[in-house]
Amino acid sequence: MTEETKLSTESYKGVRDFYPEDQAIQNYIFGIWRKTVESFGYEEYNSSILEPSELYKQKSGEEIVNEQTYTFKDRGDREVTLRPEMTPSVARMVAAKQHELAFPLRWFSIPNLFRYEKPQKGRLREHWQLNVDMFGVKNTSADAEVISVAHKILTNFGAKEDDFVIKINSRKIINELYKQYGLDEEKSYKLSKVIDKKDKIDKSAFEMAAFEIIGEKTQEFIRLMEANDRLLASFGPENESVKELVDVLEKLDKQGIQNVEFDPYLMRGFDYYTGLVFEVFDTNEDNKRSLFGGGRYDDLLDIFDAEKVPSVGFGVGDVTFRDFLTTHKLLPEIKRPAEVYICTVKSEYITDASILADKLRSQGVNVEVDITDKKLGDQMKLANKKG
Ligand code: HAM
Repeated sequence: MTEETKLSTESYKGVRDFYPEDQAIQNYIFGIWRKTVESFGYEEYNSSILEPSELYKQKSGEEIVNEQTYTFKDRGDREVTLRPEMTPSVARMVAAKQHELAFPLRWFSIPNLFRYEKPQKGRLREHWQLNVDMFGVKNTSADAEVISVAHKILTNFGAKEDDFVIKINSRKIINELYKQYGLDEEKSYKLSKVIDKKDKIDKSAFEMAAFEIIGEKTQEFIRLMEANDRLLASFGPENESVKELVDVLEKLDKQGIQNVEFDPYLMRGFDYYTGLVFEVFDTNEDNKRSLFGGGRYDDLLDIFDAEKVPSVGFGVGDVTFRDFLTTHKLLPEIKRPAEVYICTVKSEYITDASILADKLRSQGVNVEVDITDKKLGDQMKLANKKG
């Protein structure tokens, strides 16, 4: 007889078990997410966790594809990936029914996503992410709306404007800047990746990496990047990309959204973004990771045999979002489902108690019946414990 090895009760590294208390908090968060986006008219969609790996290879970006995906061969020798993000899946769905769908589409979903990351505060291997996307609108009203949805989500949880900051940049402006510095496509791509890593490496390492790409004009480039207004002014007031950015900022300002900052260093890791990009950060330094990330991606449908559809949207993850709510004391005490608890003095009353409970349920009251046959005092203690 072989000796059985006992299994560990720990969950797989970087994923979470949701005991009822955690699930209740998760449901509370999803509930307000859903209510908020539905108040703007967004409709819910979903897709499978499994996708063919090639979906991510062209436009998601090297880091995510080479280092962060869970990819394996299925029994039919097909390469399959657990979705690391929702955007390529929703782009696929839109492309597949391009001629049947009534644009503009306002769509949302709350998928669980898998990324092979080093688990740390704000970053796990499985997280849930609300995705909010608008398809079919080219003008800046779409960008402004999507950003205002993100803002509304936070204020609907009771957050104030000084609790968070919305950082915004334009891929178009940055690409024009790269051209001014004589960078070709390959160098531009490399520099974007270096800038994307800027906060994870120290200053001198960043400057060295930038120098290898830009050369002697590196310091001038950095000074310009750090002087936001001067950078925009250097393009002149008639520059289309600058006008677009200013237009979005003005629209948000008119809607009373003031905590928005232009940040030319905001890159976003994905290659599919073509225009404005933005992220939302907690102003509390304890939660350094972004809460929301998104932007405009007008060319992603090119990877399918489909016509272009201008698209803009964002994702907000449950991990950093819950940290944010905890830090700012915005999580309410979450009640258990039962509103009434019927104690049973003798075991022969349990059936009657169940019949009574059912009557109450039919009137919309949540009822739990004690079937333990314990002493009344103990039953009441249990009822109290359950709130
Ligand atoms: P992302 O910036 O990779 O964007 O993710 C959006 C948000 O999801 C992040 O700000 C963060 O809150 C959360 N998140 C991402 N990775 C993790 C992780 N490993 N653990 C915990 N939370 C995480 C996207 O995924 C884009 N596809 C969003 C988008 C939608 N762009 C346009 N439409």
